[in-house]
Amino acid sequence: MILETDRLLLREYVQADAEAFFRLNSDPEVLRFTADSPLRSTEHARQILSSYPIADYRRYGFGRWACIDKRTRAHLGFAGLKYLEELQEVEIGFRLVRAYWGFGLATEAAKAAVAYGFEHLSLKSIIGLVIPDNIASVRVLQKIGLKFSNQVCCRGLELERYTISRQRFTKRSSDL
Ligand SMILES: CC(C)(COP(=O)(O)OP(=O)(O)OC[C@H]1O[C@@H](n2cnc3c(N)ncnc32)[C@H](O)[C@@H]1OP(=O)(O)O)[C@@H](O)C(=O)NCCC(=O)NCCS
Repeated sequence: MILETDRLLLREYVQADAEAFFRLNSDPEVLRFTADSPLRSTEHARQILSSYPIADYRRYGFGRWACIDKRTRAHLGFAGLKYLEELQEVEIGFRLVRAYWGFGLATEAAKAAVAYGFEHLSLKSIIGLVIPDNIASVRVLQKIGLKFSNQVCCRGLELERYTISRQRFTKRSSDL
């Protein structure tokens, strides 16, 4: 287990999460503002889990984490930090099963992940990348303190880059 918030547990993905990961990543509405194609099967989900989040834990010590409902133990989606080789930056990302949108859960998970990045991983800055039309995602980034910095081309998409420095995170935390 990596993190605990009021309503969530964030933990590393394991192969046994393949079916839940498939359900999340085969909903076209969930993938609408991402560069990802829908997963085809649980087996495909298993391969993606191995090649991305699980490989990232080994390579960098962190990656996208499974968000688990503390009360029901249901898999709600993912949130977490990912090292982007293309930009040489660490990105906060989040993606939830549709039924759980609109309850502040992405904000709760992302806030905890960003704090972990500064307090435990000693990162200097964290970025967020979004398609501008993804209003919910932009809003989550703003609520956790990231500010628009510039436009970038990444994953073959024109994206807006939001950022927060450790210095601003620390100041923001002491102001709250
Ligand atoms: C983005 C996502 C994770 C947000 O999850 P969530 O748990 O619903 O987010 P939260 O409830 O914490 O916050 C969403 C905010 O966006 C706002 N919002 C959502 N849709 C909106 C819309 N169409 N117009 C204006 N505001 C909107 C909500 O009101 C809320 O802001 P508020 O707290 O100020 O009212 C979820 O929609 C999702 O999984 N989307 C698909 C995957 C995705 O696009 N991930 C991000 C890729 S960069």
